[in-house]
Amino acid sequence: MSGTGLFISFEGIDGSGKSTQIARLAEHLRAAGRDVVVTREPGGSPGAEEIRALVLQGDPDRWSAETEILLFTAARRDHIERLIRPALAAGQIVLCDRFADSTRMYQGLSRGDLRQTVDALHDLMIGIEPDLTILIDMDPAEGLARAKGRNGAEERFEDFGTDLQTSMRAGFLALAEEFAPRFRVVNGAQDIDAVAADVARVIDAALAPA
Ligand code: ADP
Ligand code: TYD
Repeated sequence: MSGTGLFISFEGIDGSGKSTQIARLAEHLRAAGRDVVVTREPGGSPGAEEIRALVLQGDPDRWSAETEILLFTAARRDHIERLIRPALAAGQIVLCDRFADSTRMYQGLSRGDLRQTVDALHDLMIGIEPDLTILIDMDPAEGLARAKGRNGAEERFEDFGTDLQTSMRAGFLALAEEFAPRFRVVNGAQDIDAVAADVARVIDAALAPA
């Protein structure tokens, strides 16, 4: 679905090291002469960044679960139209911090079983999956401790605590089995260099000519 470029998403619980590893992988790929775009969800385009503020700031009960699915999907649609599709059409490698798998997990699992609603809306409005998804897997308590180390206004989902993060970890591992061809699971409970080396190995293998 991705034209001539390559679409790579990073998934994992809060604090698992996604942004750290995306920065490292971007450096690695650029050093190899690749044209890389780094982006994130929710956000990545001006309109989607505005929606990000609506969904990640304020009272956790601000939106119903269903409204939240619509907002994340609206942000994703804008992101695809304005950034992802044009970048892939131009042959760039897109590194995206979270994509639809996060909606399958956070909105599909955390407030009742809404996975079918998430998938139906995805089919209707998004319709693409990444070529590759790196799942950074690690113990939720450690991830939460790392995430809490950062200060900021965006705490809504981190505030759900360790129980939610534990079911998220299991859910992400189940998604990795459900979508096995595009998923690669990396052990996030290592130092930053070791995780970066694992990620680079996986991506280099995927980029190598068959
Ligand atoms: P995410 O984007 O998944 O929420 P970050 O990349 O922002 O995670 O990392 C969360 C925090 O943990 C940051 O302060 C980061 O410097 C730190 N961190 C990231 N990876 C590691 C690691 N492998 N070991 C120790 N600390 C890490
Ligand atoms: P992110 O900035 O990746 O947070 P972190 O660096 O802590 O992992 O994502 C912000 C929050 O948004 C995160 O708690 C997960 C949540 N989220 C959803 O609930 N649904 C979604 O579809 C996406 C993309 C993110």
